[in-house]
Amino acid sequence: MAIPFSGRRPPKQIAKESPQLPLRDVFVVGGTPTYTYVNRTETDMESRFIDALDDGNKIITISGPTKSGKTVFCKKMLAEDQRVWISGGTVSTADDVWTAIVHKLDGATARQSEAYVSEEDSSEFAAEAGINILAGSAKGEKRSKRAAQRGAAKTKFRVSSLVHEAIDLLVTSGSTLVIDDFHYIPEPERVRLVRALKAPLEEGLRVVFLCVPHRAIEPIRAERDMQGRIEVIAVPPWTNSELGEIAKKGFATLNVAAEDRVLEGLALESFGSPHLMQEFCRHLCRVNSVRNRQLLSKALTLRDRDEFFRRALDSSAQDVLGSLAAGPTSSRKRIQRSFVNGESGDTYVAVLRAIANTGPKTKLTYNELRESLRDILADEPPAAHEITRVLEKISDISRQRFGERGAIDFEETHKTIHVVDPFVAFYMRWGPPIGGDDE
Ligand SMILES: Nc1ncnc2c1ncn2[C@@H]1O[C@H](COP(=O)(O)OP(=O)(O)OP(=O)(O)O)[C@@H](O)[C@H]1O
Ligand SMILES: [Mg+2]
Repeated sequence: MAIPFSGRRPPKQIAKESPQLPLRDVFVVGGTPTYTYVNRTETDMESRFIDALDDGNKIITISGPTKSGKTVFCKKMLAEDQRVWISGGTVSTADDVWTAIVHKLDGATARQSEAYVSEEDSSEFAAEAGINILAGSAKGEKRSKRAAQRGAAKTKFRVSSLVHEAIDLLVTSGSTLVIDDFHYIPEPERVRLVRALKAPLEEGLRVVFLCVPHRAIEPIRAERDMQGRIEVIAVPPWTNSELGEIAKKGFATLNVAAEDRVLEGLALESFGSPHLMQEFCRHLCRVNSVRNRQLLSKALTLRDRDEFFRRALDSSAQDVLGSLAAGPTSSRKRIQRSFVNGESGDTYVAVLRAIANTGPKTKLTYNELRESLRDILADEPPAAHEITRVLEKISDISRQRFGERGAIDFEETHKTIHVVDPFVAFYMRWGPPIGGDDE
């Protein structure tokens, strides 16, 4: 399908704006873009979000693969003064979340609660209550049993008042609580958080969680009284045409243009990730010595396509693939399989190479994988149960090592394999052969 890029012909007029609009402000990699923000109007994401906020009474969960635009979307939908933003990666307990809210909405109150900690409140009790800001006070102090009990009672009181204070501040300020990367918070703490949020939801508190589409919200759905109280908005897959919009907008802003086929290639290699598309567009400008908005329109060219994409390889994706190919640590000797290209590797390497051999497709069926194994192996493919076992292990390692974000996921009920991480997909296409010598 052709991408309706309209950036082919450079605009005729000479730009009047300052030439000093830097490239990095146009193609934003890892932040919120302004000039190249694509309003995904062909999807119902925005209207669903607005309606859900309007309905209230529900936790809104925006779920989508890594680098699919969850954070950017939410920041665009909620202005800074309408939200309290907590990053799941910076908190490890529910109480950290309440503390952070109090801090953000009312620094003075936070200082007061800190001052409230008496000498006998040990770091032990604070840690028990999960309050990190208190950790470290009265280090190594030995207390009598009675003093310890008094400390525990005070801490409990303080924790519950902290929850109330945080929720009070949120409700009275009319702020929406946003927890980004919700999946980073350990599971029992996620459940604690949601339990504490149940009642305030009825009082009009608005809550948004952003997470990857795995198991992060399952335990919460299973919580008593939470059925029907969670609105999941899945980020729709980015189409090549939407990805093309990023290039179109950015190139028009910079007063440059590239041929349709070049832009189609960039969109195709982005594996549905606006992040990769932003990166490629920026890189294409750089290799054409475009670092600012151009006064005279300029045509961009892509001479060595392979070199261009190879330079964009991400080393963390290489590590991910390396550990998936290594499989679980066990002393069991693995069967070596011969590939048609003369190389060899165990079943883990064979399965990963077979996935890569499909393009890779980011979603493939078990049968497609089996067909691909036939293509790459010199001998018969492994037995069905062996392939399934290896896929399950790859999926497990993926989650254990790379958290809920995962990398490659095997959905057993539908016998479907998902390459959930666009960087991993990209590496599979452009990197050296998995399990090969030059890896
Ligand atoms: N609507 C958009 N229009 C243009 N570019 C976008 C858009 N959304 C995201 N991007 C690009 O993709 C990058 C990643 O987006 P974002 O950080 O929102 O992804 P994410 O899904 O939150 O990722 P993670 O799972 O790592 O938290 C942004 O820095 C930006 O370059
Ligand atoms: Mg994010």
